Amino acid sequence: MIIRKSSLILFTTIFINTFLIFSQEWNVNYDESKVETYSLPSILTSHSGMIINNVNDWEEFRRPEILYSFTNHVYGNIPGKLDSVIVKITEHGNYLNSLAKRKQVTLTFIKNGKELSTDLLIYLPNSIKKAPVFLGYNFQGNHTVIDDKNIFITKSWVPANEALGVTSNQATEKSRGEMSRRWSVEKIINAGYGLVTLYRGDIDPDKDDFSDGIHQLFYLKDQKKPEADEWGTIAAWSWGLSRVMDYIEADEDIDHEKVIVFGHSRLGKAALWAAATDKRFAGCISNNSGEMGAALSKRNFGETIEVINTAFPHWFCGNFKKYSKKEYMLPVDQHMLISLIAPRPVYIASATDDLWADPKGEFLSAKEASVAYNLYGISGLITTTMPQPDSPIIGVVSYHLRTGVHDVTDYDWEQYIKFAKFNNF
Ligand code: GCU
Repeated sequence: MIIRKSSLILFTTIFINTFLIFSQEWNVNYDESKVETYSLPSILTSHSGMIINNVNDWEEFRRPEILYSFTNHVYGNIPGKLDSVIVKITEHGNYLNSLAKRKQVTLTFIKNGKELSTDLLIYLPNSIKKAPVFLGYNFQGNHTVIDDKNIFITKSWVPANEALGVTSNQATEKSRGEMSRRWSVEKIINAGYGLVTLYRGDIDPDKDDFSDGIHQLFYLKDQKKPEADEWGTIAAWSWGLSRVMDYIEADEDIDHEKVIVFGHSRLGKAALWAAATDKRFAGCISNNSGEMGAALSKRNFGETIEVINTAFPHWFCGNFKKYSKKEYMLPVDQHMLISLIAPRPVYIASATDDLWADPKGEFLSAKEASVAYNLYGISGLITTTMPQPDSPIIGVVSYHLRTGVHDVTDYDWEQYIKFAKFNNF
């Protein structure tokens, strides 16, 4: 894989700057000895105090209870269904000397006389008739994922970024292929998998503004923003992944029973919620998803609910605001989010220098969630102690701690491919 030196420097700088801004501004804890005692809600005890010890009671009673709490207190409800969707194959061609085919598909969502479109970028190995795929959002636009001149440049709002050539919040040629180091497309294709990606900002631009993106299509008369128990941006992104799944079910080149939903960081939060809410996702990968992703929020290490609600007030539902500095009042924690994915395979990945995301809190979540897998006779995470860096634990519930910073690397993808193979994708 070719790593452009310019992009490496650029993103390392962005990472260091972001990290410095956040850690200076917020007095968060990075000292393991200062982690206070916390108590986690029990995955297997229902609100009425019933101990859950079989799959039936889990699926009938406890799982819906947990899902309800996350929906109403954290991510928010989806206010309705679309009126219709228009699907258009806008472009297709060959890639990697004909090892793969490329498709670009535009989905247009229609509701209440308004519409919003998103472009899917799809690469599928030619060697396989119905390919299993990784599906995930990208941060800066489809054209940044691979240096392929055929990829359309998004017309959606993109965060200001001089180095990437974003002017007036519009992406330009300058960023074509600039994020390719985060997408090991060649490895994915050679391993017999496809990739489906879309730009997060097509579904909802990542800013505290509910006048754009998907939310406003669903507004009732005079409504200006979602109600307190309705979707924020993370839930909107997850909803978008489900709409892509609707498309995938009709695409004969893709095995819709073998779709692994993937996401890095904030997009990892969205991937986890998508897998929790939509059982059609057969597997899930959360890469450095941190606070309100895989990390336990009641463990005071790294980012907190107060920080996330202040810096990104649009991510979660209005009801979630009341939990700032009150993690202990939240009726759920993130091990329960992972439990909602059981018995489907899930991979939680951390990085040693990504303390903001609390690697240990991410590991503990995966470990605690294993009890839900056990109900199905599945082992879950096959260790109770945090593994050393670069010693992945691959199973139905998988975990690794990569050496390095908050990022997605070739190393991460190598493990994700092993995870997919292990779980017969
Ligand atoms: C910030 C935020 C995190 C998030 C990350 C990202 O650091 O505090 O919660 O995961 O951005 O998405 O890159």
